[in-house]
This record gives sequence, C-alpha cells and structure tokens, in this order.
Amino acid sequence: MADPEFTLGAFTLLLLISSVANYPNGKVTESCHGMMPLHGYDPQSGPVHSISVSQMTFRPGDQIQVTLSGPPFKGFLLEARNAEDLNGHPVGSFTLIDSQVSQLLTCEDIQGSAVSHTSPSKKTEIKVYWKAPSGAPNHIQFLATVVEKYKIYWVKIPSPVISQPNALPFTTPPATTAPSLPVSPPVSRLTKSFSASDCGNKKFCIRSPLNCDPEKEAGCVFLSFTRDDQSVMVEMSGPSKGYLSFALSHDRWMGDDDAYLCVREDQTVNIQPSHLTGRSHPVMDSKDTLEDMAWRLADGVMQCSFRRNITLPGVENRFDLNTSYYIFLAGGVAHGGRIYKHFEQPLITYEKHDVTDHAQSIGGSHSLLLLKAHGALMFVAWITTVNVGVLLARFFKPVWSKTFFLGEAVWFQVHRILMLTTSALTCVAFVLPFIYRGGWSRHAGFHPYLGCTVMTLAILQPLLAAFRPPLHDPSRRQVFNWTHWSMGTAARIIAVTVMFLGMDLPGLNLPHPRKTYAMIGFVAWHVGTEIILEIHAYQLSRKVEVWDDVRIQILQSCTVAEAEGHTFKKAVLTIYVCGNVTFLIIFLSAINHL
Ligand code: HEM
Ligand SMILES: *[C@@H]1O[C@H](CO)[C@@H](O)[C@H](O)[C@H]1NC(C)=O
Ligand SMILES: *[C@@H]1O[C@H](CO)[C@@H](O)[C@H](O)[C@H]1NC(C)=O
Repeated sequence: MADPEFTLGAFTLLLLISSVANYPNGKVTESCHGMMPLHGYDPQSGPVHSISVSQMTFRPGDQIQVTLSGPPFKGFLLEARNAEDLNGHPVGSFTLIDSQVSQLLTCEDIQGSAVSHTSPSKKTEIKVYWKAPSGAPNHIQFLATVVEKYKIYWVKIPSPVISQPNALPFTTPPATTAPSLPVSPPVSRLTKSFSASDCGNKKFCIRSPLNCDPEKEAGCVFLSFTRDDQSVMVEMSGPSKGYLSFALSHDRWMGDDDAYLCVREDQTVNIQPSHLTGRSHPVMDSKDTLEDMAWRLADGVMQCSFRRNITLPGVENRFDLNTSYYIFLAGGVAHGGRIYKHFEQPLITYEKHDVTDHAQSIGGSHSLLLLKAHGALMFVAWITTVNVGVLLARFFKPVWSKTFFLGEAVWFQVHRILMLTTSALTCVAFVLPFIYRGGWSRHAGFHPYLGCTVMTLAILQPLLAAFRPPLHDPSRRQVFNWTHWSMGTAARIIAVTVMFLGMDLPGLNLPHPRKTYAMIGFVAWHVGTEIILEIHAYQLSRKVEVWDDVRIQILQSCTVAEAEGHTFKKAVLTIYVCGNVTFLIIFLSAINHL
C-alpha cells in the first residue's frame, strides 16, 4: 500500500459502473421537466443555436416542421410548451424525420412529447414534425436544450411563438424570455491542508491507510465529519488527479445513495452533490444545499470541504445525517469535468455509522475478500495441483506403477486426487465472483467467458474419466486417452490465459508488471520442465531400441537404465515442485498484500 498510484487505483469508483455519462444514448427522460442536463454545471447564457418553424399559425391537427440548428452539438432535447406557461407540461407530440439522429421520448406520460439525440455524434441540424393536439393552447413555443460538450450547454433555447389563428395576440409573460439560470454559491480556496489531529476526538474520520495523516502523507485518503450544532463540516482529501467522492448508503450495494463529488477541472475543483440510481453515472443535484465550499490542490493531493445541514427538510436525495449509513469512498479519473467509472470496488466501512453521533476514527475495506479468494483458489488449482497431477500421469507411470496405495498404482491415486482437487477448487472459486457481483461480471472482458470454458472442462474431465472404457478394450481406450489428453491440455492452456487476464482486472489490481513477469516465468518453468522430461523419455526409448538391435540382454540393461531414469525424473519432479510452489507463493502473497 506504499505506492500512491496503487492506492489511488484502489479507490477508483464502482459507483460509476455504467459508461452512460451524460446519457450519450439520449434517453434523457429525467430531464423532461427542467430540461437541464444533469451534468452539474451552470448552463451557458446567450444561445448560439436557434429553432425555426414552418408556419407561424396552426390549428389543432396541423403538422409543423421544427428545425433546430446551429454550431455542431452532441445532444439536445426539444419540447413544445404552452407559451403562457413555459414551466408546464410538454404539449402535443412529435414525429421523426430522421430516426438516425433523433428519437421520441415519453415525457409526462405523453408519447412522443419530446425529441432527443440518439448518440453523441456531432450534428448541426435536426428536423422534426410537431402535431398540434386537439386541445392545444392558443400559443405554443418550442424549447430546446443543446449540449455542445459535457460542460457546455444551453438550456431552454426558445423558438418563435406560434399561435392559433383566432387567438388574442401573445404577450410575453415576465419569466419566459430569459429562463432563470441557477447561480452557484461561492467557493473559496483552502490555505492549508486538513488535519487529522482531531480524529476520534472532534472529528469522525475514515482513513486509508488506517490512521494516515493527510498533512504528511500524499497517499492518505481522508474523509472527516465535524458536527457543529445543526450542521456538519465535511472534509475530503486524497491523492487524485481526477475526482474524489463519498457516498452514504443504506446497504453495501450501489443505488439510491447520497453522494458527494469533488471533481478537478484544470486548476479548480468543482464540489457537487449527486445521487446514485443503481450502478449508473451519478445524477448531479443542486449545490444549494452546500455551504462554505472550499478546495485546495497541492502536491498531487486534492482537498475539498463543505458544510451541510444535518437535516434538509423538503430537499430530495440528501440524506439526514443523524442516521447510520455505510460510507463509500472512491476516486478516479476525470476529463473536462466529466468523471469516469472504474469498476473497482471503493472503500466501504465495515458497518453502518452515524457520523454525527460520536467522533470515531475508522478504516474500511475494499471488500475484496471474495475476489481475493477467487484468484487465490484458482492459482492453487491451475498453477500447482493441475500441473503436478499432469506431470505424474504423463511421466511417472513407469516410476510408480508397481507401488500401490489403496488398491491402485500410486501415480494414479495421486493424479486422481490432484485432479479432483483442481476441479473442486475451480468449482468453489468459480462461484465467488458471481456472489461478489451478484451476477455476471460485465466489463471484465474475455476473462469470465474463457473462465466458464475452463469451468466446463474442469467438470467434464472427471466425469469422462469416471466412465472411461476398460483397459481390455484398447481401441475405445485409445479414443478416451486422446480425448482426455486434449481436453486437459486445452483446459490448462485456456486456464493460463484466463489467469493472465484475471490478474489484470481492476477488480483486484495486482501490482503491475511484476505479476506478468511472474506468470511468464511460471509458464517458462513449467514448459521447460515438460520439455526436459519429454526429451529424457525420448532418449530412454531410443536406448532401449539400440539395445534391442544389438541384442544384448535386454531385460537386465533396461532395468538399470530405467532405474537411472527414475532417479533423474524424481529429481526433476522435486525441483519442479519447489519452483512451482515458489511461483504459487509469489502469486498468493501478491493477492494477500492487496
Ligand atoms: C483458470 C482460472 C480462473 C477461472 C476459471 C476464472 C473464472 C472466472 C469467471 C467465470 C468470472 C466471472 C464471474 C462473474 O461473472 O461474476 C471471473 C471473475 C473474476 N476473476 Fe477469475 N477465473 C480464474 C482465475 C482468476 C485469477 C487467477 C484471477 C486474479 C488473480 C481472477 C480474477 C478475477 C476477478 C477480479 C474477477 C471479477 C471481475 C469483476 O467482476 O470485476 N480470476 N473469473
Ligand atoms: C440550514 O439551517 C439553517 C438554520 O438552522 C437555515 O438558516 C439554513 O437556510 C439551512 N441551510 C440550507 C442550505 O438549507
Ligand atoms: C433526525 O432529525 C430529524 C429532524 O430533527 C428527525 O425528524 C428524525 O427523527 C431524526 N432521525 C433520527 C434517526 O434521529
């Protein structure tokens, strides 16, 4: 845990599992009403895009062509509203002209009452038809929100007002021309680092590594809550070039959580309350609930602080701080104010805590136990037990064919035990990530797929072996031998690939690149041993042939040569096992040190 990069890596965010940051797919129904992209930035003023309409008057049932155009933009949301009540429901419904770039949304239960983008590709013009409904109000105005980039957007760009022919002329209600833009509360700069000296005394602190000091250690991840009558001062600090965040959660899972982000933007920090809906990108909320916001960037450490009332009656998504929660701490990369998911587990407190109750100083875990056990058991199975078992069966039949144990040749007994152990360990280890993820590991690349292949083979192999044809049926036995060998070899080769891929998964984040060298070293060690034993076996068979030719007393010489061969093989096996176990220990200790 000494390596700060590594610590940082370990804090990256699971919260943000989905990549639908700012909804590139345009399914923005959450924004139907306010027409605000939930990105957490102030909208731009002075629109540069415009909406034009094909006719200025309409009757119920008319189709009016609406065009949104301007400099290239990535996303948009278009609605029609009663011009006299622009904050009301959307009116009427749209039909698409180009469904490649636009799609219909159902807002306020009216199908097609809004149009949005289908992808973040750049566009300069969108055309759609709007159909006036039968009970249409006298005056209609189209409103568009246009997103140029994540941080740059315009909200509620108005169109010209269109009216029914016999309606009274439209008079602008006061609030319509300039939609009121929310103004962010002031943010100040911190002059010095947070202090851990009051942890457990006045401050409720969560730290990783446990009891680290944010003033002295750049790698220290620190979150503190200081109660002050009816409010709580929150301080968060950590080694981050991107963002830091914490979330209050009722359970150990993501979803329906109250989260706070500190996102670095060039040389400033944006402090942002948000809430999590499932494992998707956090939805940014209003900053009005936070006071005394401040931040500091120094020496690769990001710090931010704010004050929040313990209870915020009438405010959605902000939890009361007088109750116990699990607390998640995470961080990751951010570009242009947008945060990126890292599907690594954040730090989670071991139990629920009420941060306003009494000051404590605690740590947490990345709750990696299941994944650690998964990796460790798979290593034991696919580095050690399977390979030793295979070597025994391939090269040690003649060595131990006459020694018996429980009625069977020793090589066979040991082979069987090792192979069954391999299958059993694989079965146990296999279910652990499923428990951890509560389902299929998306975002884990080929590892789970190939892993399932290995699992299948690891179950089929012993089943097939149990029903092997008897020795006195040589042709069928031959087929069995061949199948058994090729399935086993395939399983071992795929397993090595799976281990290579598994080690790189951010879920565990083993130290790079040492683990890769170690795995290459192990493969070389194993293949080298097999080659040596193979050459040795080949030479032995050659010798026997030579003697055969010269017609020396075959039987006797053979046994002498074989005895020598056996000693050699046993020596190789001993050395191999020592090396194999050393590699296993390297991998297990890497997992243990996470
Ligand atoms: C041959 C041995 C292995 C097999 C058969 C295997 C199989 C699997 C399977 C099927 C999954 C997906 C489970 C799910 O969808 O929830 C999985 C997930 C995982 N495996 Fe393995 N695995 C093996 C070795 C390893 C090793 C050696 C490591 C690391 C040291 C590892 C690390 C992981 C991690 C971190 C995940 C979770 C991915 C995530 O959801 O973040 N695996 N493995
Ligand atoms: C916090 O509570 C105080 C009174 O206790 C109130 O004046 C203030 O407006 C509250 N702040 C917020 C953001 O609700
Ligand atoms: C937290 O405070 C609010 C307002 O004072 C109160 O209604 C609520 O019952 C409190 N919750 C707990 C668990 O004490």
